[in-house]
Amino acid sequence: MTPLQASSSSFHTLVIRNVNMPEPTHGGEMARKYIKEVSDANMDDCIRSASFNADVQEAISKHVNLELRSWYAFKKLAADSSRADVNLHGFALLFEKSALECLADACYLEKYAIQRGGKAHPMDIPAPKIEYSTHPIDGIRPIQDALHIQKAIFEDCQRLTEVAGQNKDYALMDVVESRFLCKETKHVKDLGDLLREVARVSKNPGHGLFHLDKELLKNKGRIPWTCHNLPESADLVLKEMACSLGEPSAI
Ligand SMILES: [Fe+2]
Repeated sequence: MTPLQASSSSFHTLVIRNVNMPEPTHGGEMARKYIKEVSDANMDDCIRSASFNADVQEAISKHVNLELRSWYAFKKLAADSSRADVNLHGFALLFEKSALECLADACYLEKYAIQRGGKAHPMDIPAPKIEYSTHPIDGIRPIQDALHIQKAIFEDCQRLTEVAGQNKDYALMDVVESRFLCKETKHVKDLGDLLREVARVSKNPGHGLFHLDKELLKNKGRIPWTCHNLPESADLVLKEMACSLGEPSAI
């Protein structure tokens, strides 16, 4: 029976015909070849661009580890600030928010590396060596520690941009610049301001630290004057001046 006769008889014979198909045509062979090629291929290799090489991935893993170490250190500062012996809940909120941001950044970057065809490379996270002095309550050292942590993050972001630039990975450069560099610059300045403020109010022991803590608490852990540090605030001042001169479109 020819395949044509089988196909015209019944469903049963049709199945037999399909099983006894003639040798695959050239097109069929090609299709099977492509399917095998794709099935055997490493999809991470397929989506990864040449610029996203081992150096770039290592730089990302190191930054993820730094963010996680910073998260641990900020958690310790937050926990110490909440102790009954210290009772600075505004500072605790500030450190808690910083810790959360570090964790969010670590998760974001890890996910980004996977999106680019990379892998997660977890590294050890040592316990932070930070101890809050409570006799007397020391407001300066915790903020100094926080500033060092934030500055290290900022510098590592710059290193990450540098590695991305050296390898011409413009996509990573864009991510680091748009998501990380701007806000880390802001955090460093804000903590520098806060350190100066804590030192100022600590000169004469009294109500200073108490009021500063209350202010931080009222602002849910945000540094109250942070908006004045934004470069955009200069635009705003100029706009207001232009408006008062009757030239709102001048800026
Ligand atoms: Fe961060």
